[in-house]
Amino acid sequence: MNWPELLSRVRAETFVKHVEPHEEIASTNDRALELAADIDLPTPALVIAERQTAGRGRSSNVWRSGPGSLTFSLIIERPATLPIEQTPIISLLAGLAVQRAISTVVAGRPVKVKWPNDVYVDGRKASGILTEVASSAARRIVIGIGINVNNSLADAPADIRTKAVSLREAVGRTIDSVELLVATLVAIETELSIAEAHGGFDVARWSPHCLLQGKRVCLRTPRGDVAGLCTGVSDRGELLIGTEVHAHRYSGGEIVSF
Ligand code: BTN
Repeated sequence: MNWPELLSRVRAETFVKHVEPHEEIASTNDRALELAADIDLPTPALVIAERQTAGRGRSSNVWRSGPGSLTFSLIIERPATLPIEQTPIISLLAGLAVQRAISTVVAGRPVKVKWPNDVYVDGRKASGILTEVASSAARRIVIGIGINVNNSLADAPADIRTKAVSLREAVGRTIDSVELLVATLVAIETELSIAEAHGGFDVARWSPHCLLQGKRVCLRTPRGDVAGLCTGVSDRGELLIGTEVHAHRYSGGEIVSF
């Protein structure tokens, strides 16, 4: 990682007020959750690492990231006009921001968001996001983002290799990671401001990029699996699934097939 360039561009071109760079760390989300407890911390604050030894994914999964990937966590304050019950939409906004940033570097490729916030390029996962509420300070939220940028998935287990892709593998050239990081942070600021002005989730911005729309999906929820046709997302960011009987809205769960 070119740290001097990264630090100067993040400070000059983004809304981030504090940066903590690490060569190696267990998990940037763990460190960000710790940092968020400091009420004097200027936010947005960024924790970024060259390597994670214990990266975490959604649903207690492990997030593996080889050399050349981007792994960082952003601590933000929940926008004042966004009620606490709408906190989950921040995950969707972050996914949309990453979708927009990746689109700029892989122009011409289909870049989609798989609800709630995985980003897919050419039908394979290129980025995952883990959003967590910092319990120590109620309005602080940690957005943890992993993007397969210049890493190779050749050594990954077979099941991951077929489902995931790095941006370099997708476009056949090395990607400027600092440029992508800056573009992502700028896009997050934009999406948060739009949600703040809109007073919530603007489904019209998200829908055109929905990977699952029109597909048969299976969603694993604590109350069992739900299979049906995905008809998109609601204006509250819920996934809409039509079963034999009628359409249902889901605010949580994990897509296990699509
Ligand atoms: C997922 O797809 O399940 C979410 C993956 C989130 C990974 C990122 S990498 C940076 C941050 N630190 C972590 O430990 N996890 C997130």
